Amino acid sequence: MGEKTRSRGCFGWFIVAVVLALVVVAVVYTVIKKTHKSDEASPAPGPPGAVEKKYADALKVAMQFFDVQKSGKLEDNKISWRGDSALQDGSEAKLDLSKGMYDAGDHMKFGFPMAFTATVLSWAILEYGYQMNAVNQLEPAQDSLKWITDYLINAHAEDNVLYIQVGDPKTDHGCWDRPEDMTEKRPLTQVNISSPGTDVAAETAAAMASASLVFKKSDPTYSSTLLEHAEQLFSFADKHRGSYSKSIPQVQTYYNSTGYGDELLWAASWLYHATGDQSYLQYVTGQNGKIFANWGSPTWFSWDNKLAGTQVLLSRLTFFGEKESSNSGLQMYRKTAEAVMCGLIPDSPSATTSRTDSGLIWVSEWNALQHPVASAFLATLYSDYMLTSKTTNLSCNGESYKPADLRTLAKSQADYVLGNNPLKMSFLVGYGDKYPQYVHHRGASIPADATTGCKDGWKWLDLEEPNPNVAVGALVGGPFLNETYVDSRNNSMQGEPSTYNSGLIVGLLSSLITTSPAVQSFT
Ligand SMILES: *[C@@H]1O[C@H](CO)[C@@H](O)[C@H](O)[C@H]1NC(C)=O
Ligand SMILES: *[C@@H]1O[C@H](CO)[C@@H](O)[C@H](O)[C@H]1NC(C)=O
Ligand SMILES: *[C@@H]1O[C@H](CO)[C@@H](O)[C@H](O)[C@H]1NC(C)=O
Ligand SMILES: *[C@@H]1O[C@H](CO)[C@@H](O)[C@H](O)[C@H]1NC(C)=O
Ligand SMILES: *[C@@H]1O[C@H](CO)[C@@H](O)[C@H](O)[C@H]1NC(C)=O
Repeated sequence: MGEKTRSRGCFGWFIVAVVLALVVVAVVYTVIKKTHKSDEASPAPGPPGAVEKKYADALKVAMQFFDVQKSGKLEDNKISWRGDSALQDGSEAKLDLSKGMYDAGDHMKFGFPMAFTATVLSWAILEYGYQMNAVNQLEPAQDSLKWITDYLINAHAEDNVLYIQVGDPKTDHGCWDRPEDMTEKRPLTQVNISSPGTDVAAETAAAMASASLVFKKSDPTYSSTLLEHAEQLFSFADKHRGSYSKSIPQVQTYYNSTGYGDELLWAASWLYHATGDQSYLQYVTGQNGKIFANWGSPTWFSWDNKLAGTQVLLSRLTFFGEKESSNSGLQMYRKTAEAVMCGLIPDSPSATTSRTDSGLIWVSEWNALQHPVASAFLATLYSDYMLTSKTTNLSCNGESYKPADLRTLAKSQADYVLGNNPLKMSFLVGYGDKYPQYVHHRGASIPADATTGCKDGWKWLDLEEPNPNVAVGALVGGPFLNETYVDSRNNSMQGEPSTYNSGLIVGLLSSLITTSPAVQSFT
């Protein structure tokens, strides 16, 4: 007190001290409040671990590719070179199919991989939403998911009719233009009772069932709408069986489905999680499981084959479901999931030999990165199921492995993608110092202010300079088996990103964000 009155200088310092103290209190209060708020929004099962900056940064980059791919009237658009496009999509059937996402470097909307993207994104949010939230990526993830499910709802125009494609690949690929400037015809393709598409209808059901869980708390009405569509579509898919590749042979050129049994099991598994309805559990463990599940044989998880994903998803019930843990059918799925995991661990007796010299899982020349990224996502999921349930051992032909072995494998694949590879380049566009400059992507290759139509845009494909726009977040196809990469705009085999790749890399990165991983409950 006395000191305060002694001199102005001291009084001045006192004021400064008080102001500083107030600022500190305010900051601490905000931090506590923020932490508290995020805890409420999505309860984490364990103590939040430290954030691994590399994966958090990469996730923020990867998430943006969904914004790059958005069709329709954009909301809160953050990609400077993107604008509204395809506003008339669906109008020939009096439907609004303007939303959804373009498939890759082109402007097709292919329903089969688009629905798969939504299912994988839902899965990532359901398991790792709290980790996404810790780095402010939960909302963008939910918004992007909804951008697809809004489209899928409209595409399921009536019972037993699902629009599965907007645009004709021949016409679309005959143009090199920006989506904002498209003038070419964009015809619609549907599956129905006379031309069934069990694979695409069931994948769409899986997308909607999983998304219904994502929105259950935040938007119950939207969530029940999704679930209603999912149940109808599943019943359409199951009752009117046939591959869309047989009903509509033209689809074989791009997204040929090699069978629909996997999608039926995948969709029923998601519907069981979304409804708890025993009939879906019986569906996957009974006769359909015997016919379609290929128990005991490991497979690669992809937009075409969902068996490995189904095995991991159903294993979840054996780890955490009190009622289900002893179900013998589910044990078959669990055993097969174990076989998948044993195939991935590099030094396991049953390790796959499909790898590059420096350890990248490598299965196909086209879009090579889809398989390592998808496999790594499943590996962290399985590892986290083991950790969260305190399951210590994974047995592979008599050898014992730990959850950490799976996580190490998953990280090695993610790290390869992000630059730990012989080329020392990142395959995730916009991440790191060195990434592809000639991504095969129409919108990225044409300056936003160019006036270019369908045919006269080809000069931008041939242009020698790098893309004028960064297709931020694009995960390109990736390296050859010999670990080389040709950064050329016409190299669609290696240099074309796809929207479903983004679903997978977002899943993988969100699983690696914190150092003390765990999965959360779906509901
Ligand atoms: C059913 O779908 C097929 C394949 O897309 C299409 O050719 C046919 O016109 C559709 N049927 C009806 C009644 O619209
Ligand atoms: C599509 O898949 C089916 C079933 O696996 C196969 O018989 C057919 O040859 C494939 N079509 C193309 C064009 O690859
Ligand atoms: C787990 O593996 C360790 C060796 O890594 C072994 O000592 C232990 O017996 C195994 N436990 C079970 C339950 O298999
Ligand atoms: C790497 O593989 C690709 C595709 O098989 C081939 O075209 C290329 O010549 C190979 N490069 C080297 C350096 O071996
Ligand atoms: C692709 O472009 C490269 C040069 O950027 C050229 O050497 C090559 O011949 C082109 N390939 C095709 C298939 O057009």
